[in-house]
Amino acid sequence: MVEASFEDEYPAVGIPRMDEDHAKIAMALRQLIEAVRSDDTTAAKVLARALIERTIEHFFLEKGLMEEISFEFIERHRLAHQDFLTEAQRALEELTERGLTVDCLRWTSETMAWFRNHVRTEDLALARALMLRYGHVAQLPKS
Ligand SMILES: [Fe+2]
Ligand SMILES: [Fe+2]
Repeated sequence: MVEASFEDEYPAVGIPRMDEDHAKIAMALRQLIEAVRSDDTTAAKVLARALIERTIEHFFLEKGLMEEISFEFIERHRLAHQDFLTEAQRALEELTERGLTVDCLRWTSETMAWFRNHVRTEDLALARALMLRYGHVAQLPKS
């Protein structure tokens, strides 16, 4: 059986800035998973930190977009981001202090599923609201 690639299951939401970030996060996550599979703790630490930093920037972008349109589900979406980051920081601490533990491995695989589900639900809802507000992606504010 051919395993579906990450991109196959990671749909574009139609807002270029969001989709570009999602692609970068997907790449960072793929690199982290490779390091974990190779049992390379040193690389995994660096890559986990890079993934978290990239994700923080991306969540900041989405927060700004949600505020711009007074998105009705902003609290729920913001909490989803916050919960993810809390878990991510915990996993990074575990990785730093104890290495590639079972919890770290679990977090890595759950993160793949989390992003996929989040993009397909919360992010897609935000993208639709943005398109509804601005009519067309090309008219979206550049900031
Ligand atoms: Fe997103
Ligand atoms: Fe999001």
